[in-house]
Order: sequence, then structure tokens, then C-alpha cells
Amino acid sequence: MENKGKMKAIVNIKFGPPEVLELKEVDKPTPKNNEVLIRIYATTVNFGDLFARNITYRKFAMPAPLYPMVRIMFGFRKPKKTILGSEFSGTVEAVGTDVTLFKEGDEVFGYVGDKMGCYAEYRCVPEDGSVVLKPTNMTHAEAVTVPYGGIIALALLRKMNIQTGQKILINGASGGIGSTAVQIAKSLGAEVTGVCGTPRLEFVKALGANKVIDYTKDDFTQSGETYDIIFDTYNKSSFKKVKHVLKKNGRYFLASFGMRQVFQMLRTKLIGSKKVKCVMAINEDLDSVKELIESGKIKAVIDKRFPLEQTAEAHQYVEEGQKKGHIVITLDHLV
Ligand SMILES: NC(=O)c1ccc[n+]([C@@H]2O[C@H](COP(=O)([O-])OP(=O)(O)OC[C@H]3O[C@@H](n4cnc5c(N)ncnc54)[C@H](OP(=O)(O)O)[C@@H]3O)[C@@H](O)[C@H]2O)c1
Repeated sequence: MENKGKMKAIVNIKFGPPEVLELKEVDKPTPKNNEVLIRIYATTVNFGDLFARNITYRKFAMPAPLYPMVRIMFGFRKPKKTILGSEFSGTVEAVGTDVTLFKEGDEVFGYVGDKMGCYAEYRCVPEDGSVVLKPTNMTHAEAVTVPYGGIIALALLRKMNIQTGQKILINGASGGIGSTAVQIAKSLGAEVTGVCGTPRLEFVKALGANKVIDYTKDDFTQSGETYDIIFDTYNKSSFKKVKHVLKKNGRYFLASFGMRQVFQMLRTKLIGSKKVKCVMAINEDLDSVKELIESGKIKAVIDKRFPLEQTAEAHQYVEEGQKKGHIVITLDHLV
């Protein structure tokens, strides 16, 4: 399939502050036989975009031995991913010759993970990647806020085997993972307490949390409440401190963790009723995320929309801690 057109994209040729994100004209991609070409209407700013734009070890919240691999993936001196953005919602504009699951005109949404490249008018994705038909009850701008958090939170919550009536505390409830975890845990019948910063208290309440705690004012480990599950998305607590607020047989789940937490996991596997669990999302299941959206169990709470040209401002807004919900980058003002 021959295609020599150009497209607008936000390009970063060096690591650094939001200003490294510049609007440029680049080559429009051409779908391979197994790929669909998507006209992107909306994308997002999430943890991975901020991290990849300006990688530092300080922001790396996983075991240290993985850091060199991340640098190999994202680049040492200059970025290997020169177009960021991992979530998209849009329309299929063309399909490769072997594609059977999609046709031109289908409305789709999805997540390309660390491959990125969604801060652009077009992106090709394999038809069997994380791309599915867009939920019918959301606009493109709403739908695009869900794939990353939805896929990761669903995979991690499945490992928690949450039972109706259990009390779960989510530390980092306003983040990409936490904000969807709050909603899925609620839909499973759990009583959910969300912990976040002051500007995002209303956001977490709007997601349906039974209680919210502002970590800048209160320490949940001192509240006297106990929990069946504590889920820390960003490794901002410690087993030593949370142990006494975990019920008997309680579990402490971590989405971000270092070697210390891995050793705690191994130790608590053998000793004691309270367990540490370092969990990774391995299986991606966007179909189930779409079903949760269509059954009304996951909603989108958008704080602000920025046009593609203002992607640097969007990054600045998030980095300054101003966001009060999801941040959407639009490539079509109608979405
Ligand atoms: N295990 C896996 O499979 C997996 C997969 C993908 C990502 N991750 C990791 O998961 C982590 C979280 O990702 P994310 O996308 O949710 O990040 P994010 O959107 O940046 O959210 C971070 C969350 O941490 C909260 N937070 C910051 N400081 C805090 C503190 N002192 N006490 C309590 N909460 C605090 C933030 O609250 P406020 O914003 O309200 O201040 C926010 O809710 C990252 O480290 C990422 O690498 C793990």
C-alpha cells in the first residue's frame, strides 16, 4: 500500500522539560499487511509520557536492575521514542491486506504501551494489538482516558480476588492506575477508600470512592481503620507502616516496587498472615475494559482538553500537579 503523505505530530528530539515537545510535519505511516491505519482524534498525557519525555532514575519506581533495560528501550543520550502518547481513540482509515477484524470507518480505541507514537494524526497498529471497537456510550475524548489505567488496573485487581464487602484502600487513587482501580473495586462490591493529593479529592469522590483521604493532611496508617487489602500504586507507603492497619490475612499489593519489597514478598510468603504482593500486569484485556465501560462500571472524568498544538502546555499542567481528572489531547475539536 503506497502512501507518501505527511501528518502533524508532536516530536521530541531530546529529553527535557515540556518545551522539548514541538509540533512538526512528519511522514504519515503506511499500514503493513496485518495493520490498521488509525486517524487519531484524541490521546492523553499519562505517567509513561512524562517519564519517557525526561527519564531520570529518581522517577523510576521499579526494581533497580530493570533500569538499564528501560534506558535501552527509551534511549540514553537522546530519545528513541520521538513521538510520545500511548493511548488513542479514532477511526480506521485504511486496513492492510490481511486484516479481518476491522474495516475502514470503524471507530476504535486502544493502547500501544511503551511503543508510543500516538501524539500524531495517524498511527498504524497490528489488528491483534490492543485495539478494539470504541465503547458506544463514550465519545472519543472520554474513551481515550481509559485504556492504560483500565488494562493495568483490571489485570492487577484480578490478582487481588476482591470479595463483596471487603475493605480496600487505594494509595494513589487519582493516578492512571488508581482512578480505574477505584471504579473496578467498587463494581466488585468492595468498600473503597482512596488516598490522593488535595486538588484531586473531588475527582476521586466522583469516581465513586466511599471515602477519600488527603495524603498531604492525613496519614491513613494513623486513622484507626483497618483494611483487607491495601493497594499502593506508586510505592508511597511501606509494609512496616501499613502492617498494623491490615486485617488478619490482609494483603498489601504494590504496582511499583523495588528489591526491598520483592524480598518482603518472599519473606511474607513463608511467615505471617499478612502478605506483601508485588504485582505486574502481564495480560492485556481491552475487550473486558470495553465491557466495563459499556456496563457503566468505568466512567471518564475529564479535567481539561488541550489541542495537539498545546501538548507541551498539557504536560506542564500535569507536571505542576494542577490536574483534577484526566487530561485529553484532541486532534479534532468535535470529539
Ligand atoms: N505493576 C505494573 O504492571 C505496572 C504497569 C504500569 C505502570 N506501573 C507503575 O505504576 C506506577 C503508578 O502509575 P500511574 O500511571 O498510576 O501514575 P500516576 O498517574 O502518576 O499516579 C501517581 C499516583 O500517586 C499518588 N501519589 C503521589 N505522591 C503520593 C504520596 N506521597 N502518597 C500517596 N499517593 C501519592 C498521586 O496522587 P496525586 O496526583 O493526587 O498527588 C497519584 O494518584 C508507576 O510507577 C508505574 O511505573 C506498574
